[in-house]
Amino acid sequence: MKVYFIGAGPGEPEYMTLKGKSIIESADILIYAGSLVNKEVLQWRKADSIVYNSAGMHLDEVIDVMVKEKEKDKIIARVHTGDPSIYGAIREQMDRLKDENINYEVIPGVSSFVAAAASLDKEFTLPGVSQTVILTRKAGRTPVPEKEDLKLLAAHQASMAIFLSVGMIDEVVEDLKTHYPVHTPVAVVQRASWPDEIIVLGNLSTISEKVKVANITKTAQILVGDFLGDDYELSKLYDKNFTHEYRKSEG
Ligand SMILES: C[S@@+](CC[C@H](N)C(=O)[O-])C[C@H]1O[C@@H](n2cnc3c(N)ncnc32)[C@H](O)[C@@H]1O
Repeated sequence: MKVYFIGAGPGEPEYMTLKGKSIIESADILIYAGSLVNKEVLQWRKADSIVYNSAGMHLDEVIDVMVKEKEKDKIIARVHTGDPSIYGAIREQMDRLKDENINYEVIPGVSSFVAAAASLDKEFTLPGVSQTVILTRKAGRTPVPEKEDLKLLAAHQASMAIFLSVGMIDEVVEDLKTHYPVHTPVAVVQRASWPDEIIVLGNLSTISEKVKVANITKTAQILVGDFLGDDYELSKLYDKNFTHEYRKSEG
């Protein structure tokens, strides 16, 4: 028996990795995060496979499904949204499987923050603008360690992707404004890569209002930083006067 944690991607089924797809094709049991995973990825499953939606299950129930099959020669696909290593709550599952001596493997996926950047045709790490990407969220019902308070992270003025927080857009903007200038661009991408994706563009003084007008309250990325603008330096990697391991300078 083996459990595969699979990143299903942000919505578009074709963002699933080939490996993830082939495991779904061979899985005897699938447990998918029904609130966000696109059900279309389940179309590849075997006709006689059993499907559980983990949206209504707690941790013990998910683990019980796996433990029950422990002595059998089964493949279990635990299908998470985006990449499972980001707000995926997989560590607690992996640790329980380790305790149970159950073999498992993680297949990464396309996270929603990169899908949002792709929809916007943007690069988080623009030379001369920012070489750092901060992935974070605002504290809501689940806390965030005090030392990672959004106001403190804002001090870096790095490229930022804020998860799970669009419902608190006013508070997010207030925190960001403590360090980012008010003209800093912000993009809110709801349901990136889904057919009903919505993109709202603005800056720190306009975005809250625009998000409310668009009625975006969940499943959105808030991307912040000058990487969303148009000023940057050209990369050294493709500079004809710059030598590196794979290419000699022409200069
Ligand atoms: C529990 S987290 C899961 C993140 C996921 N593991 C990932 O890598 O994208 C859920 C949050 O991810 C973001 N999210 C997930 N899918 C999204 C999508 N298609 N477009 C925009 N944001 C998305 C939203 O911020 C949402 O509140």
